[in-house]
Amino acid sequence: SAPGWTIEVDVVVVGSGVAGLTTALHARAAGYRVLIVTKAQVDEGSTRWAQGGIAAALSPDDSPAEHEVDTLVAGAGLCDPGAVHALVTEGPDAVRRLIALGARFDTDESGDIALTREGGHLRDRIAHAGGDATGAEISRALVAAVAGRAGIRVIENALALDLLVDDHGAAQGLTLHVMGEGQHDGVGAVLAPAVVLATGGLGQVFSLSTNPAVATGDGVAVALRAGAAVADLEFVQFHPTVLWTGTGAEGQQPLVSEAVRGEGAVLRDDAGVAFMQGQHPLADLAPRDVVAKAIMRRMRETGAKHVWLDAREFGTEMWERRFPTILASLREIGVDPSKELIPVAPAQHYASGGVRTDAYGRSSVRGLYAVGECACTGVHGANRLASNSLLEGLVFASRIGDVLAEGLPERRDPVAPSADGVLMSEAARRSIQVAMTEGVGVLRSRDSMSTTLGVLDALASSVTGDPRTKAWETTNLHAVATVLAANAKMRKETRGSHWREDYPDTDDASWHVRLVSRLDDDGV
Ligand code: SIN
Repeated sequence: SAPGWTIEVDVVVVGSGVAGLTTALHARAAGYRVLIVTKAQVDEGSTRWAQGGIAAALSPDDSPAEHEVDTLVAGAGLCDPGAVHALVTEGPDAVRRLIALGARFDTDESGDIALTREGGHLRDRIAHAGGDATGAEISRALVAAVAGRAGIRVIENALALDLLVDDHGAAQGLTLHVMGEGQHDGVGAVLAPAVVLATGGLGQVFSLSTNPAVATGDGVAVALRAGAAVADLEFVQFHPTVLWTGTGAEGQQPLVSEAVRGEGAVLRDDAGVAFMQGQHPLADLAPRDVVAKAIMRRMRETGAKHVWLDAREFGTEMWERRFPTILASLREIGVDPSKELIPVAPAQHYASGGVRTDAYGRSSVRGLYAVGECACTGVHGANRLASNSLLEGLVFASRIGDVLAEGLPERRDPVAPSADGVLMSEAARRSIQVAMTEGVGVLRSRDSMSTTLGVLDALASSVTGDPRTKAWETTNLHAVATVLAANAKMRKETRGSHWREDYPDTDDASWHVRLVSRLDDDGV
């Protein structure tokens, strides 16, 4: 529908997690009028759920070069080396800036930042806050910083619909659907020569995910509809140890941080066997894809619905001090981890791919930037190293700030938005999630993915004329799922988090390439 109101700013940032808020602060520091639009409340995205922490070479025993090697190894040959180099070398200062802004990290006896280990890291380099509430503390500090900053305005309950472009195809703002912001209610337009997508993950494409309900891939869908290139969408990370809450569970699931294994917990099967021993030199702390695959294999061999995590040796005092968030989730399902084993199974956790950008967050559409989980700078390759994502948000937000500080893209009038596309009925949402989980989940094959693509194709006709947030979200989930499944089917090998039953080997001769797609590509 036609915009009912218009706001004009210099930079509009879509999303309010670590990436969006940090970008807004940098853009403001460069002197611009900044608007943050966010779909729900300002702290409702994935950032505040992050447990384990933020990885950076902060210890004198560590170095960016070692962090770089670990990141490249986890990425299974598909990382962009320049982006990784930027991440690890600029990471320590980015964390220090966050501390200067007010974020409080846990410290050791000598007052230094306490560092732990997670899968794939050969050094202790994970900083954490509140034990296992790192994201909540980062979110708190950034929300407070933004709230106090003149020149940054926030509109909540605002869903980005589509990019506005000028007659050169450059971004000039976006259309927005706002629920209940006084004069800015209903569909409106934000005019801005710089549009930054920082919308986070796409976990709701699957039935079980650690991502909150708002993670519906909106930024990737907006970019796709605008003709922007996306990359690496097939690389979806399944976290190995998500609390198993019972048959029939759906939606957001509680995470059991890798840091629990970092502190010494061990995976066991029903027979009590510590099955990661001998599978990888790092055993329980192998990279995430290795651990998730080993768990799935063991579950298939034994018919079990989950495996067990044994952290009994921590004792109650350590559980309460070091992992209070996880302990609360465990108590909710009646598990005492100092006496009992914790039921865990893999579930969707992170999208390594997204809107393709260069190392300064620039997408293939002029004036359109992307940062954080919805972006694909290439830092993660085929499998993200644990705790690199909060860091990515900080580092690349600062790089977008640097680019914007050199001058904004030219401000021109947008052309009238093309006729509204088809809006999908929210009733299709559950069917998308089930089809994606069954066919394009941890384990994939040509047949499973063909079935899923068939279901997605049939669902395309479930349209509605009732423009509600849930319908737009379902439309976005469908667009993202379709490209993700098509890319996963195209990649005929197993690499990183992409695991094909019918092509079990990594094929460097044919597939040492990244898949870049647009919505109108053949077959998509
Ligand atoms: C965790 O295990 O705490 C999550 C770490 C991550 O996903 O980077």
